[in-house]
Amino acid sequence: MLRFLHILLTGLLGVLWDGVTAFGGVRLVDGESKCSGRVEVLLHNQWGTVCDHGWDPREANVVCLELGCGLAEFTPHGAVYGEGSGPIWLRHVQCLGHESSLTRCAVALHNNAYCTHENDAVVKCSGTLLMPTLTLLSPHTVFSPGEAVRFSCSILQGHLSDFHLYKHGVSTPLVTQRADQTQKKAELTLSDIETFHQGSYSCQYRIKSGFPSQLLSSPPSNSINITVVELLTPQHWYNTSTEAPAGSVIKGHNFNITCSTPQQYPGGSFQLRLIRSNGTVRQSLPALTPSVTFTFSNAQSSNEGYYYCLYRVQLGGRTFVSRESQPLPIAIRDPDPVLSPMGISWLVSGLTFVVAVVILIIVAKVLCNKEKKPTELERETRTCKFLFPSEAFKLLTEMFVYPE
Ligand SMILES: *[C@@H]1O[C@H](CO)[C@@H](O)[C@H](O)[C@H]1NC(C)=O
Ligand SMILES: *[C@@H]1O[C@H](CO)[C@@H](O)[C@H](O)[C@H]1NC(C)=O
Ligand SMILES: *[C@@H]1O[C@H](CO)[C@@H](O)[C@H](O)[C@H]1NC(C)=O
Ligand SMILES: *[C@@H]1O[C@H](CO)[C@@H](O)[C@H](O)[C@H]1NC(C)=O
Repeated sequence: MLRFLHILLTGLLGVLWDGVTAFGGVRLVDGESKCSGRVEVLLHNQWGTVCDHGWDPREANVVCLELGCGLAEFTPHGAVYGEGSGPIWLRHVQCLGHESSLTRCAVALHNNAYCTHENDAVVKCSGTLLMPTLTLLSPHTVFSPGEAVRFSCSILQGHLSDFHLYKHGVSTPLVTQRADQTQKKAELTLSDIETFHQGSYSCQYRIKSGFPSQLLSSPPSNSINITVVELLTPQHWYNTSTEAPAGSVIKGHNFNITCSTPQQYPGGSFQLRLIRSNGTVRQSLPALTPSVTFTFSNAQSSNEGYYYCLYRVQLGGRTFVSRESQPLPIAIRDPDPVLSPMGISWLVSGLTFVVAVVILIIVAKVLCNKEKKPTELERETRTCKFLFPSEAFKLLTEMFVYPE
């Protein structure tokens, strides 16, 4: 509360201070790297120190972030990187934590008599957040839906809090992995992938400072492209001469089978499989267009069977094969004879009938003549000659028209 009031007051003063001063920059000197050391600010072309009164991680974080050095790791007191010389430019800095520069923080203007170079403020930052490295643990870059993709994100150094896997064009991370402070790498797994997972991936890590709690993201890693291949089941149909009944091809005629896929990949091909009673025949054609036609000339009974079509493609060293289409049965028919089987049976029946009638007439005549030798008169009146053929006809008709 006291601190807050203090900041409020000094903030007002700081606005005034900002207006009248022209700090030229901030640097860290005499540390192990450019990200640790004694804090110095430039004013009127002269570097001067900062008094560590009121100096805590809030101010230290502002310095670290301003210098691109990550976040403050710890904030030692008491000129641990050696005493500075020259003026003490800032005596009591009070930052809120979100300032872009130490020189934009509020400053208490009252002169602290007891601020000497023994109180020079120092800072040790986490260091520049280096670009992490993303590697693929899966042995390939092309996947089928439902598979898992394993990445590894690694860094050289840093006290980190978590790792994230990002897909290019998506603002929220797809996978997040907590890390303990000493961890240098994490495995990030995308499981049960879908076609929308196809794209470019990178990872980032974040570091955290304790007080005030602050998270800082690293720059994104290198990117890795993932391809997701989803093969849909192809469709197929056949075409032949128009006179062939559905499901069949006339022997000796040409026919063709067209396979078609809704989704094409470079280098894909169609395979047509014929299952016959005595074995299987396969043939393939490159899928240069979404539909490819297999042609067959002079159809024979060896072309008869069930035809199946599938699409296959090799990508990224892997072979992807679609499901087979539904079976397409094709029967090979003999050409139609000149007379239909029905016509032939009628013809045979008719001929049999005529022959039978003739035979019966002859038999009847012979029998009639044999009965007795008729006189000339009897011959004139008798009906045998006429009776027999008509009865025979009646008999035959009954035999043929009303068979038992
Ligand atoms: C990833 O794919 C994008 C286009 O989708 C391309 O611009 C980029 O070069 C690819 N990166 C790699 C590492 O292959
Ligand atoms: C081939 O057969 C398909 C399916 O039966 C039909 O839609 C198409 O019109 C036919 N094409 C020709 C050229 O006969
Ligand atoms: C396939 O067969 C149909 C009908 O017989 C014919 O019109 C068409 O031209 C054929 N297509 C090919 C590519 O042979
Ligand atoms: C299967 O039968 C067809 C004729 O129906 C014949 O042409 C082919 O050689 C036979 N194949 C085998 C493996 O016996």
